[in-house]
Amino acid sequence: DWTTGSVIEEQVAAIREQVGGKRAICGLSGGVDSAVAAALVQKAIGSQLTCVYVDHGLMRKGETEQVEKDFVAATGVQLKVVDASERFLSALAGVSDPEEKRKIIGREFIRVFEQAQAEIVAEGSGDVEFLVQGTLYPDVVESGGGSGTANIKSHHNVGGLPEDLEFQLIEPLRKLFKDEVRMVGQELGLPDEIVQRQPFPGPGLGIRIVGEVTKDRLDLLREADAIAREELTAAGLDRDIWQCPVVLLADVRSVGVQGDGRTYGHPIVLRPVSSEDAMTADWTRMPYDVLAKISTRITNEVADVNRVVLDVTSKPPGTIEWE
Ligand code: XMP
Repeated sequence: DWTTGSVIEEQVAAIREQVGGKRAICGLSGGVDSAVAAALVQKAIGSQLTCVYVDHGLMRKGETEQVEKDFVAATGVQLKVVDASERFLSALAGVSDPEEKRKIIGREFIRVFEQAQAEIVAEGSGDVEFLVQGTLYPDVVESGGGSGTANIKSHHNVGGLPEDLEFQLIEPLRKLFKDEVRMVGQELGLPDEIVQRQPFPGPGLGIRIVGEVTKDRLDLLREADAIAREELTAAGLDRDIWQCPVVLLADVRSVGVQGDGRTYGHPIVLRPVSSEDAMTADWTRMPYDVLAKISTRITNEVADVNRVVLDVTSKPPGTIEWE
């Protein structure tokens, strides 16, 4: 039967056996899954692991700094930070299709990991043959990897992988659900700020801009998202809400009246959901006054946004993310 202790023991043994004396790298995203996967692999192979944090420019406000600070402080892991924002932005230029965006982001992640691999090898630390990913059971199922399931969306670390992948994958969380991953993380001694974080997708804000991803749109969405997160935290709602995607409808414009006159801007969507495992979800019945505060602040503080709308769709039929 299932205990966090037995999962850890089993995975540590399996990882040691798989890796032997070789080296592994692990992509850290700032999220729970990759942090727990990294901590588990570090427990198994210690300094044979290097973590790589790819700043793809699609992160939320303050996220990069947080990974550098919290995770390294908690684990003492070796961390390599790669600024790849230019690379991702140019690969995404002109692309609006959600699945295409996901595949591009998945591919670019791997290319950056390959580069990091080459650098580690060049430093004389030995061969890197393994890539650690924090893939969970629901990611596998929704990317069409489970038996008899359709591909709903290609999670960047499953269906988005290039075919000429040079790495062997280590995916110690592949059979677990999020709540189980949190328990494993806790048992491994990771702090609450990491273990209790709300989910955030690997492709980041790239799949929360409906339309083409550009630097200006990312900056705008980052501001709106930071306001929503700040107010949700201030209202004490972080534990009640599974996650709250903030989405920019970049291809939609709406008329507003702001300051001295007419504006023609973009709507922002708030998508607060309640869920156990992200396979199904319900829209969160949030207090109106918190919604009002978020709406007022976003329309006042974020240029080009003149409307805030609330998504009141369950999953199914709507997925949690818009893309
Ligand atoms: P959906 O939108 O499929 O999302 O209902 C379910 C959960 O998965 C997250 N998500 C992702 N996570 N890579 C990730 O690491 C992805 O490509 C990806 N797509 C969705 C989403 O935020 C939600 O928690």
